[in-house]
Amino acid sequence: MRAGPVTHADVAVVGAGAAGLFTALTAAAAGGRVALVSATPLARTASYWAQGGLAAALAEGDSPEAHLADTERAGRRLTRRSAAEVLVREAPERVRELEGLGVRFDADRHGDLALGLEGGHSIRRVVHAGGSATGRRVVRQLSALAVQHPNVDVLEGARATALWTGDDGACRGLVLEDGRALATRAVVLCTGGTAALWERTTNPPGSLGSGLLLARRAGARLADLELMQFHPTAVAGVRGREGFLVTEAIRGEGATLHGADGERFVDELAPRDEVAQAVVAEMRRTGSPSVGLDMTAIDPALFPNVVSSLREAGLDPTTQPIPVAPAAHYGMGGIVTDLQGRSTVGGLYAVGETACTGLHGANRLASNSLTECCVFGRRAGLAALDDPLPAGAATPPTAQPLPTPGRETRDALWRHAGLERSRDGLATLQLDPYPLARLIGACALLREESRGAHLRTDFPERDPALDHHHTIVAPGAAPCFEQWD
Ligand code: SIN
Repeated sequence: MRAGPVTHADVAVVGAGAAGLFTALTAAAAGGRVALVSATPLARTASYWAQGGLAAALAEGDSPEAHLADTERAGRRLTRRSAAEVLVREAPERVRELEGLGVRFDADRHGDLALGLEGGHSIRRVVHAGGSATGRRVVRQLSALAVQHPNVDVLEGARATALWTGDDGACRGLVLEDGRALATRAVVLCTGGTAALWERTTNPPGSLGSGLLLARRAGARLADLELMQFHPTAVAGVRGREGFLVTEAIRGEGATLHGADGERFVDELAPRDEVAQAVVAEMRRTGSPSVGLDMTAIDPALFPNVVSSLREAGLDPTTQPIPVAPAAHYGMGGIVTDLQGRSTVGGLYAVGETACTGLHGANRLASNSLTECCVFGRRAGLAALDDPLPAGAATPPTAQPLPTPGRETRDALWRHAGLERSRDGLATLQLDPYPLARLIGACALLREESRGAHLRTDFPERDPALDHHHTIVAPGAAPCFEQWD
């Protein structure tokens, strides 16, 4: 396709989930001209479906230090401490900022923020909006603000198909599928993760890693692609609701997991990797395709959208156990970024699930991700305004369609890079037609140990020599380890 007209903005934000919206609003409030590029209509992103809340040390008796300790414990000696420190320190301010922007979080009977408990947290620390409708509420409110903001141009139904790099290798804008180009100081990729590359997933179909492919083509480094978190309680064996997430917050209120014999088999509030692996072991032990989530003692009014979705599927959570099994949920890896969201390519940033700061280690702590979107979105939105305007005239590159994965890729990732992996299966991914599947397989092959979400049946132990070692994919090189402190 021939290059189309060029328009100018200070910052182009690609993706309109929580990370993209928060980044865009921050940059716009600081006086920047922002182009917000969204392939889907606003408020239809993965964040929209997020049932978890935002983790922040707001309770009396809680502290950023305790939040940090829980984040590191869940991360299985792979958490990058500097990134986690930023998150826990700035999380309470971002929750207050969201309230200032009009997001109404759930309150207790005294009018204080109601704090929920989720797996791996040592204290009630998670704010929700509308029970399990937090993502929806946050994204709706921020979308409304973005649409009204005089400094934000919303480009709905627009898909970024190439990053525009200058002779110096720095990113100076992007090209859309229809050939239009945007010349900018900086591009911030907030395109979500890769979980929809797995056949069984809690994510909407668009979570295919498009931002990672764009960044890689532009020369950026990626990290930790093998670290896919599997959520333990996604609906299983129910037509029309396969993979539907039943939020961990329900277990925080007392819902329990039971095997085919009716017995409990795991601490339901252990970190997510432990619960997911226990569910798989239980399914194998009993030969059942799911375990039962008993939420009959839970007040359905607390989680209205989960309860109504289950009822629409013919399941009554007030009287019967819900069949659940793990599904791909959240990628801890992504585009390597520093604490301001800067990638290894000048002028190119990433925030949220698209990015890898190292914050989540090998197993993200529940509800740290919406918090991350706001904490690092604010940092990136401000930092991006300090990038220089692109110098001189230049012609944008021609639009190059991104590859799309077929059904065979989704089957192969589920089969060979699922909760349990081994060398032989991972090796077959090296022949997959979808480039990210090959990279995921290569990173998983390199990590010859089991840690967090990455369980290698041929290397079942954690290798202490790999503590704090991240798998790095750099252009033109085989994946290698790098130590991040
Ligand atoms: C959940 O609500 O269980 C998911 C939230 C998250 O992924 O943190």
